[in-house]
Formats: sequence, structure tokens, C-alpha cells
Amino acid sequence: MSEKRVNKGNNIILKIENLQISFTQYERGLKQRTFQTVKGMDLEVSSGELTAVIGASGSGKSLLAHAVMGLLPYNASMSGEMYYCGEKLTKMRQEKLRGNEIVLVPQSLAYLDPLMKIGRQIKKNRKDEKINQRLADIFSRYHLKEEVAKQYPFELSGGMNRRILISTAMIENPRLVIADEPTPGLDLKSAKRVMEHFRELADMGAGVLLITHDLRLAIETADRIIVFHDGRTIDEAVPTDFQAENTLKHAYTKALWRAMPKNGFANESKNTDI
Ligand SMILES: Nc1ncnc2c1ncn2[C@@H]1O[C@H](COP(=O)(O)OP(=O)(O)O)[C@@H](O)[C@H]1O
Ligand SMILES: [Mg+2]
Repeated sequence: MSEKRVNKGNNIILKIENLQISFTQYERGLKQRTFQTVKGMDLEVSSGELTAVIGASGSGKSLLAHAVMGLLPYNASMSGEMYYCGEKLTKMRQEKLRGNEIVLVPQSLAYLDPLMKIGRQIKKNRKDEKINQRLADIFSRYHLKEEVAKQYPFELSGGMNRRILISTAMIENPRLVIADEPTPGLDLKSAKRVMEHFRELADMGAGVLLITHDLRLAIETADRIIVFHDGRTIDEAVPTDFQAENTLKHAYTKALWRAMPKNGFANESKNTDI
């Protein structure tokens, strides 16, 4: 594991150090309460690499994605360091890079505009010849027929809309792709195909941060797997570490391993207080 990181160390696109996120909420009247959700996340994403982040629902994975994009909710406050291509990722840089160099494939299909034809959504209202060529390339990469551009999201299947969501992010040729749970609601075959798309983007040189709770898909696709638990990065492993329980380091990662179907579905919840 460390060997790979050292080899690719020069190409680190995203580095996050000790990210912490807390929320302030009003309780009864004017009483305020602050609670910390993300307590210490560290990770690196290198170009040409697919880094998977795995963690239970509610562990702060989407917050991580939104923190990188600069899209945290108004009541969130954040500390820690984020670097993009070796330089601090400031608010100004986030605004400049968001949507072109750094893209998010959001968790929900609800991000598609139901009232806008697919072609216009993906092209983001640009009309030049270059964008039309790019759209044609992307459609062929994701096996979407030309006429889909003239359709609305409700006319397409869930799997097709998922590919549209990816296309919307890919139209700009990004250097860093953050995919937030891109496979929910898909059957295994479609989910694998979606994962292959992200694998391909990494193979073409992008840094891909793939957020998922599906360990099996992460093992099949990722170069490295980062495990979040209780708001912290607690472990990092490569897929081969998951061939057996004893090659895994952290007790929680071992519990995730045991909970996989092929290892007997041992109840993960029994082990989450580790
Ligand atoms: N706008 C918000 N206000 C208060 N708490 C929030 C808000 N957004 C998220 N949270 C808290 O952060 C936790 C982690 O959220 P999230 O990153 O969406 O988890 P995950 O994507 O891992 O399922 C949630 O369980 C919730 O408690
Ligand atoms: Mg989420």
C-alpha cells in the first residue's frame, strides 16, 4: 500500500488534513447547540488513481464531498486543510474550479432538472461546435443514443439518468472527479458498469474520489480504500488486503469484511462500537 502512495506521491491532486465539520442548530427558542459530525478526516487522491471512501450511512461522506466543492450547508463550520494540486483550496479557487476542473457527480438523480431536455442540461446552455462534439463523444462513451439529447429525464430509465448525471460532470474533462454514491438503486450489472466508467476516468488520468457504502464494488474497482468511522479516517487498505481478514489492520475494517456476503454476512452492527 505505502509503496504505491510513494510512487504516485508527486501526482497528489487532492489532500485533506484533519477535516472537521460541525453544525450549529437552534433548540427550543434561542438556545443554540453545536455538534461535531466530522472529527478528523484525512485523505489523498492522486491522478490516475481511484480512491474509494467507505463508511456507514450518516458517517459524513457527503459532507466530505461538499466540503471539497465548497458547498457545505450554511449552518456548517469547517476546519482543517485542503490542498488541490499542492496549493491551498481556498473559497476563491473552489469557485473557479468547481464544475470544470473539479466536478461532483451527486448522490441523487434529483439534481437533474426535470423540465430541461437532456442535451441542454449536459451542455449547460453552451452552443458552440466544440461542445456538440464533446457531447457526441460522451454519448458514445456512455452508450447513449443521439436522440436522448432531445428527451427529458422522466422519459429515461434510472440507469440511463445515472449515466446522464455522469455525462453532465464529464463534459468539462475534469482533473478531479468526486462521485457520491453513484450506484444506489441499480442492479449489480448496471452498478458494475457505472463503476467501470469511473475506473476508466482514473485510467485516463483523472483523480477519482468514489464515495460508497458498497465495499464489494470498492474492492473490485478502487486502487485504495479509505475507511471512515465515527467521523474519522480510521484505516486505509488496498483491495488485496481484503482477500483475508488477517491482512486488514483495523477492527472496524475487519467487521466490514465479515459483513460481506461471501464472508457470511456477520452482523456489522455488533462491531460498530470499536
Ligand atoms: N444541514 C445539516 N444540518 C445539521 N446536520 C447535518 C446537516 N447535513 C448533514 N448533517 C449531519 O451530518 C451527518 C452526516 O451526513 P452525510 O455526510 O450526509 O452522511 P453520509 O453521506 O455518510 O450518509 C448526518 O447524519 C447529519 O447528522
Ligand atoms: Mg451521503
